[in-house]
Amino acid sequence: MPITLDVSERFAEALEEGNEIALRDQEGVILATMAVTDIWVPDKSREAEMVFGADDIAHAGVNYLHNEAGKVYLGGPVTGIEAPVHYDFKGHRYTPNELRAMFRKLGWNRVVAFQTRNPLHRAHQELTFRAAREVQANLLLHPTVGMTKPGDVDHFTRVRCYEAVLDKYAAATTAMSLLNVAMRMGGPREALWHGLIRRNHGCTHFIVGRDHAGPGKNSQGEDFYGPYDAQELFKTHEAEMGIEMVPFKHMVYVQERAQYEPADEIEEGVTVLNISGTELRRRLREGIDLPEWFSFPEVVRELRRTSPPRAQQGFTVFFNGLSGAGKSTIANALRVKLMELGGRPVTLLDGDIVRKNLSSELGFSMEHRDLNIRRIGFVASEITKNGGIAICAPIAPYAATRRAVREDVESHGAFIEVHVATSLEECERRDRKGLYKLAREGKIAGFTGISDPYEIPEAPELRVQTEGPDVDNCAHQVILKLESLGLISG
Ligand code: PPS
Repeated sequence: MPITLDVSERFAEALEEGNEIALRDQEGVILATMAVTDIWVPDKSREAEMVFGADDIAHAGVNYLHNEAGKVYLGGPVTGIEAPVHYDFKGHRYTPNELRAMFRKLGWNRVVAFQTRNPLHRAHQELTFRAAREVQANLLLHPTVGMTKPGDVDHFTRVRCYEAVLDKYAAATTAMSLLNVAMRMGGPREALWHGLIRRNHGCTHFIVGRDHAGPGKNSQGEDFYGPYDAQELFKTHEAEMGIEMVPFKHMVYVQERAQYEPADEIEEGVTVLNISGTELRRRLREGIDLPEWFSFPEVVRELRRTSPPRAQQGFTVFFNGLSGAGKSTIANALRVKLMELGGRPVTLLDGDIVRKNLSSELGFSMEHRDLNIRRIGFVASEITKNGGIAICAPIAPYAATRRAVREDVESHGAFIEVHVATSLEECERRDRKGLYKLAREGKIAGFTGISDPYEIPEAPELRVQTEGPDVDNCAHQVILKLESLGLISG
């Protein structure tokens, strides 16, 4: 799992091998310096193939590599100055040395670590109990609190859930420490990396369950990795790594015996109950009951505090389409309809309004359009986070930028992309602002649809045709969509 330092081309241009650079945190505090010995442009497709096994942006790690990470990599010796400061859950954060010292002090010679990026429910507790019993070790709950998979429960909520679950373990057997690492969702290779990290934290054993650090499905709808690939790879490197794997199968609840058991040890004919992650999210979203056999009431209460039913959450409607497609008109009609319904504040971030108030210094180059849309996305995600409704209506011609905005917003609420699919011919025929004529005459350079691309959204939540239905009808189609998604209730 390569740990790389990626930077922008602009930053790299100003550098020479032999320079020393400062590595700072977000507030500007210098954490370390690096003597730059290598500056190179990586082949990211090859990196994706080698590290993740596929160059497919349906994989969160591959998408990050191509669309978030800078184009140039730097290498060289790093000199540490101070460790990053964390203001949250300080009492649960231990460095590798602190953990080792604690294990020594407590006489814990055998420690099995459990890695997770999800809230813990009863199945996890049973799995960790069994693992500790099986190898006669103490247990370290070692959840990741750095970047995880887009859409995951935020770590503040998760840690409050972990605190509740920790009370269910005997204090003398179990400890918890937060691990600040960014997950790559790299499946088998990530399992090895996670194992090495735990070894460095003083653990002797590491639990590898079903689909460890799994990224979900690829763009063909198939799993990137087999469910037990991680266990197989771990097995082949275990001795050399110096940490032992405790492999675990998927745990399910057997109703007749009122207990959790590994799925592959269950005979036919018994009633097996299971609530998937998707089903859990649906039940939280729709305010449906979660049974006691599945989770602890304290955990469910925490999750409900963070995820109120959908009809009370913020969301973003993101219109996009060619200039003159009718985005602003439909967006404004939608705004009025939503205000009539009431309950949540509504903000309209129209293309022209944003360019006047938020992006007045920007033009229409690819870089500036990208920046403009990311700003809109930032504001929309803040509005969504705070329970409001953001309606955006820019051209937003690039798929990669739209995807980045979607990810930003979806960590806080729903993102509904509406493609206003008016054809170029029709927009040009209407030419409300006279811009198409100027663009054809070459008087406006890089005009969307004429001399600059518009990448048609492949799978928007809704596509509206404006050649026929009136504005009111178009806005109503959006209202119906929002209703069907449970975002507004009757
Ligand atoms: S982008 O690409 O999303 O940042 O564009 P956006 O901010 O939505 O553009 C808003 C309006 O700018 C006018 N305009 C142009 N559009 C496209 N290409 C070029 N070169 C250009 N120059 C000016 C255009 O009227 C857009 O308004 P709408 O409301 O879409 O018609």
